[in-house]
Amino acid sequence: MVRFENVKKAYKDVAVIEDLNFEIKEGQLVVLIGPSGCGKTTTLKMINRIIEPTSGAIYIDEEDVTKINPVMLRRKIGYVIQQIGLFPNMTIAQNVEIVPKLLGWPADKRRARTEELLRLVDMDPEQYADRYPTELSGGQQQRIGVLRALAAEPPLVLMDEPFGALDPITRESLQDEVKRLQKKLKKTIVFVTHDMDEALKIADVIVLMKDGEIVQAASPEELLSKPANDFVIQFIGKHRLTNEIEIETVEDVMRANPVTVTKSIGTAESVALMKRKGVNTLLVVDEEEKLEGAVTIEAISKYGKGGRTIDGLIDNNVVTIPSNADSREAFDTLIQNKLDYLVVIDEERKVKGLVTKTSMVKALAEVVWKDNGNE
Ligand SMILES: Nc1ncnc2c1ncn2[C@@H]1O[C@H](COP(=O)(O)OP(=O)(O)OP(=O)(O)O)[C@@H](O)[C@H]1O
Ligand SMILES: [Mg+2]
Repeated sequence: MVRFENVKKAYKDVAVIEDLNFEIKEGQLVVLIGPSGCGKTTTLKMINRIIEPTSGAIYIDEEDVTKINPVMLRRKIGYVIQQIGLFPNMTIAQNVEIVPKLLGWPADKRRARTEELLRLVDMDPEQYADRYPTELSGGQQQRIGVLRALAAEPPLVLMDEPFGALDPITRESLQDEVKRLQKKLKKTIVFVTHDMDEALKIADVIVLMKDGEIVQAASPEELLSKPANDFVIQFIGKHRLTNEIEIETVEDVMRANPVTVTKSIGTAESVALMKRKGVNTLLVVDEEEKLEGAVTIEAISKYGKGGRTIDGLIDNNVVTIPSNADSREAFDTLIQNKLDYLVVIDEERKVKGLVTKTSMVKALAEVVWKDNGNE
């Protein structure tokens, strides 16, 4: 449907698009995404000749766009510009009907189409059709901008961040609508966004750009599972990680190698060990590393006697959790029972680790930290 061949765009000597080679197939919804200034709008505007390439060629249905009269070209291509761009001196209906009118649709057909479209975005035609753009909220104006591009049912629609100013709910419903229209009416749509959630939701193909070049063009699934390089990983970071977060089991959040002792150890030695390791509790195990209980610094200082072992000071009621249990369960148990720690054990009651609030927070922080990698 649309093909870029060695397309370059430079202003003075500064290249903003470098050697773009890319094909958009009929009926596809292609999302251009990338950091601000990477060339998304420029790429879009070269399709309908608002911007002319410095070199290279763009074909629509195998026809070189420079051979098509720009006015005729734009009637066949719906376009939602980044700044909405409604004509302030025209009513909403007149704005929506611009292209249908140019195409010579009769007035009643145009009006019916306008009313149909307004209802599509939950705007009552009675109330809105004859208002002027300034009498609408920013989000409502943006919806009209989208409708205007769809009014004449063009086969190709270009949308430059069309939902930027919308609340999440309207945004979702318009995303669904665009997706539905694309499927139902077999439209080809080139859609620019900053929002990876939006891209992943609606795209057949995501084209990730950086500094005027395509870094990767792939389906959402492929982009997530086979990112081409670190830039891609960084750009899709949080989405990739939501698939990969591995703090599912207690084992993922526990502190391994907790300090253990046997009950034959002396109280003075226990205190020295606690000091050295910077802990206030020692786990007591038998010869097979199986958990017997715990001894705290409080218990030793209250009831311990020099020269004696810790046997008799051991609390046998420590709360345990299996290492393969859900980490959320560990969190709930810790919080609800106001515990300082849980002892992680395996099937044979051997000590594997310790879950504390600190260890949970650390595991979570690691995820959050990586999560914020592209902010
Ligand atoms: N008329 C111009 N003269 C010189 N440089 C320009 C001109 N128009 C755009 N540029 C530059 O071209 C680059 C690409 O701009 P473009 O508008 O395509 O970016 P974008 O990816 O759409 O960014 P955004 O996400 O902020 O909308 C930018 O660095 C911009 O400064
Ligand atoms: Mg832009």
